[in-house]
Amino acid sequence: LNALGRSHDLAGEVVLVTAGGTREALDPVRFLGNRSSGKMGYALAEAAQSRGARVILISGPSALYPPAHCEVVKVTTAEEMRGAVLDRMAEATVVIKAAAVADYRPSIVAGQKMKRTGPMTLELLPTEDILAEVVRQRRPGQLIVGFAAETENRLENGRAKLLRKGVDAIVINDVSREGAGFDSDLNGATFLTATTAIDLPEMSKRKLADRILDEVVGLRRPQSL
Ligand code: CTP
Ligand code: CA
Repeated sequence: LNALGRSHDLAGEVVLVTAGGTREALDPVRFLGNRSSGKMGYALAEAAQSRGARVILISGPSALYPPAHCEVVKVTTAEEMRGAVLDRMAEATVVIKAAAVADYRPSIVAGQKMKRTGPMTLELLPTEDILAEVVRQRRPGQLIVGFAAETENRLENGRAKLLRKGVDAIVINDVSREGAGFDSDLNGATFLTATTAIDLPEMSKRKLADRILDEVVGLRRPQSL
């Protein structure tokens, strides 16, 4: 048993974690992507696994070595991530959507490498909102945790997103902060539910993963009072 008594508090849970950023092809050699490294999602997968959960990690391209004993499903595009998540979510008792899913994809994917011929305009189409679909298909008792990357008005934007998306909780990252977030090993966040906002100050992503899971475990317990 570790100092915080977390040892196997996720035993019996099946935790589906999405991680990393998705990539949307422009042509055979180029894509639209984002700065997500996958570190936060991989840390969550590892932490959940070590606390006794069975873990399904659905990951966009990432340089990271997948944590041991997690089932890993590798995807590239938002549409592939959507397919994988919808395919596996029925098994999950907890869904944690840490992935940075592309909001847009190019309307046309060139079959050949595009040539430089002066200015050009890209037309982008919105991707499907995976989290919204997960909420629509949720089973009773299934916990759904979203992430939100915000650069301004974190709490207000986060609260609005929580309500709009209909999730149990949202982890709000402040991606405007120096030295934290994206590729960093450090991160701070706010764990937001309909009734609480818990400040999780900057710490290692692995520790933050355990703190987030502490809050998830807390949501599982029947409310006292
Ligand atoms: N998300 C998703 N599918 C998308 C876009 C986002 O499932 N196509 C999920 C992310 O995995 C995250 C949550 O939605 O858990 C919030 O992501 P975020 O980018 O903060 O929210 P959006 O709804 O995309 O709003 P915006 O980017 O406009 O702030
Ligand atoms: Ca988005």
